[in-house]
Amino acid sequence: MKYLSKVIDETLRMVTFSLTVFREAKTDFCMNGYTIPKGWKVLAWFRTIHLDPEVYPNPKEFNPSRWDDYTPKAGTFLPFGAGSRLCPGNNLAKLEISIFLHYFLLDYRQVSLYCLNVRIQNVLGDSYPIQDQ
Ligand code: HEM
Repeated sequence: MKYLSKVIDETLRMVTFSLTVFREAKTDFCMNGYTIPKGWKVLAWFRTIHLDPEVYPNPKEFNPSRWDDYTPKAGTFLPFGAGSRLCPGNNLAKLEISIFLHYFLLDYRQVSLYCLNVRIQNVLGDSYPIQDQ
């Protein structure tokens, strides 16, 4: 289960399907030399952080072991956002992914595509042509 959790974190890091969140500047502020005026919308682009080689060495390598004894610094792992709008479903989401992967990995069966096609053809007849193996 510990390794599965690392696989999920690594998947969330690499895929980051919640690419970004909007925030509105409540006051003028300066960040990295850029002034963001009050009222402007700011896009926090998570994927850039998750693929930053200074934060995650060799970032395009799928490596669950990078999470061994590693706790990300604040603001460097944001699949569920951050701050007061942090995704409230984050633990539920990870639980659901764990349950899916658990049953998928223990119960999946490999099926030859050819055998599958033969079975379909048995049902549909010649309207479902298949190529020889
Ligand atoms: C892998 C699955 C999920 C991902 C990657 C994800 C990601 C996110 C992200 C990035 C945000 C924006 C956070 C921010 O603005 O800082 C968010 C917000 C939210 N998520 Fe999720 N989420 C997931 C699953 C879920 C689930 C399972 C639920 C509920 C059962 C949920 C409910 C919400 C709600 C209600 C918000 C709005 C929170 C707010 O604006 O205060 N999410 N989620």
